[in-house]
Amino acid sequence: MRLVQISDPHIVARPGLVSGRLDTAATLENTVARIMELRPKVAPIAALLVTGDITDDGAPESYALFREIIAPLDLPILAIPGNHDVRESMRAAFDDTGLMPKTGPLNWISDLPGLRIIGLDTLVEGEGGGTLGKASLEFLADALEMAPDFPILVALHHPPFSCGIGFMDTIGLSGTDKLAEVLRRSSRDIRLVCGHIHHVQFSSVGGCPVISAPAVCSTFDIDFRADAPTGFFDSPGGFLLHDLKAGFRTIAVPPTSGQGPYPFK
Ligand SMILES: [Fe+2]
Repeated sequence: MRLVQISDPHIVARPGLVSGRLDTAATLENTVARIMELRPKVAPIAALLVTGDITDDGAPESYALFREIIAPLDLPILAIPGNHDVRESMRAAFDDTGLMPKTGPLNWISDLPGLRIIGLDTLVEGEGGGTLGKASLEFLADALEMAPDFPILVALHHPPFSCGIGFMDTIGLSGTDKLAEVLRRSSRDIRLVCGHIHHVQFSSVGGCPVISAPAVCSTFDIDFRADAPTGFFDSPGGFLLHDLKAGFRTIAVPPTSGQGPYPFK
């Protein structure tokens, strides 16, 4: 069972540029082309998981453009919101996936062959930081308890760990201790995936491994100094390929393959 995870495409309707600089629609198109290039070599792909900041502005036209660009993949879409998303626009934009609840946080469960995926909504509208409210934590606890005897992947936008990049840690996830408690109470095989920090980082929460996806559209500098400048770099980050087969492995796929393969000499 394999799935592709993309994160943080930050789409805006054309001809908009994010921060006056990033053509995020073009970067997502390149990422879709990269997935198409890879796909025959790693088929079959069961679904496309999108871990938030799908749009930069939450506008319905931006969600429509996102759907248009990923349409050639023809994959089931499992989408959770990020801090840049707008809950009701997103609920409407993905209504046809059958995952979105009619009201409340955009938490959902998707059971794929041999894998339960639990999507959690950490969005606090108007704020950069995220949280898991009481309803979402109870949703998670129930979804873990009632799960079939499968490995479980929990997806959320904000990483449940400190990433070391100061300006991102100021807009991190609050209430991580409560999430850790829920995870610790479960005896299931759980791992978590997230986005938001535009980097691949590996950590743990509540005794479970967690990995963050790169961003489709840009990256942040790895700078742990207190006076590190706030801002982004215009390099796309690629995506993650999750592969569940005799265990679970995650592969970070760079945005371009480069030239090759050249023979070893
Ligand atoms: Fe974000």
